[in-house]
Amino acid sequence: MYKINCLNKISPVGLDLFTDHYEMADQFNEADAVLVRSSSVHDLELPPALEAIARAGAGVNNIPLDKCAEKGIVVFNTPGANANGVKEIVIASLIIASRDIFGGVNWVDSCKQDPEVAKLVEKNKSKFAGTEIKGKKLGVIGLGAVGVLVANALIKLGMEVYGFDPYISVDAAWNLSKFVKHAKSLEEIYRECDYITVHVPLTDTTKAMFNKETFALMKDGVKILNFSRDALVIDDDMIAALKSGKVGRYVTDFPNPKVCGVEGVITIPHLGASTSESEDNCAIMAVRELMEYLENGNIRNS
Ligand code: MLT
Repeated sequence: MYKINCLNKISPVGLDLFTDHYEMADQFNEADAVLVRSSSVHDLELPPALEAIARAGAGVNNIPLDKCAEKGIVVFNTPGANANGVKEIVIASLIIASRDIFGGVNWVDSCKQDPEVAKLVEKNKSKFAGTEIKGKKLGVIGLGAVGVLVANALIKLGMEVYGFDPYISVDAAWNLSKFVKHAKSLEEIYRECDYITVHVPLTDTTKAMFNKETFALMKDGVKILNFSRDALVIDDDMIAALKSGKVGRYVTDFPNPKVCGVEGVITIPHLGASTSESEDNCAIMAVRELMEYLENGNIRNS
């Protein structure tokens, strides 16, 4: 009987797949395998019997990969399982970066008891006017499962899309519409694009990739979306770029006390993959990976 511990809430649609050879363990230190979403495993003592950790999500920066490799613990993730959820929130975010929907909604809420609200709206609504995304240039950095979906969806909404990925796979290239321009360098994206959305893992190469040097290469007023990881951005440089108008808007899925509330920042509380469909898909993929490994020794998405 394999003991499985869940460090976070994992969709029952996935957990129900476990057969009679598995039981849920309340205690982490008793586990043969662990399912985790966003909790950090870095400071936990790894259980002696632990054989595998499955991350119900794409990023694995909450898992101590070196320690796991040393101990022979296999780490899985669920690439692509939440990609559609992230794609949809990116589309919404491009629009909220361009239209002051929140400003308008909060203002109208503040005067909702006023019988003259309709007249007040006519007087005030010009304060909340925005711009359209159609015809604007969008840079998609990272053409993995999410980046490809984002690039193809935004072309359909009339954007001119530039994609950049130094490691683009044959599959991703195949799935990319012929209408996406393949940028030759990040500099090309920075130079050309009105909007930049980033879909890369956090690595030594991508950490701090948005900093004062790279902001200097971008268009004035560029709008940046970050649904990857907070540490891609140097906070102080982002704040200075927002203050100077170099960056027009920063939409981030990572609550960060330093940046949250700064003018021009829209902080989303890590909701990119928080849809019932994405949570179900991640749970199903993670549970299947664990069972396949524990029962047959086969490794997928490690
Ligand atoms: C991911 O890495 O795919 C996301 O962080 C998933 C999540 O929100 O749990």
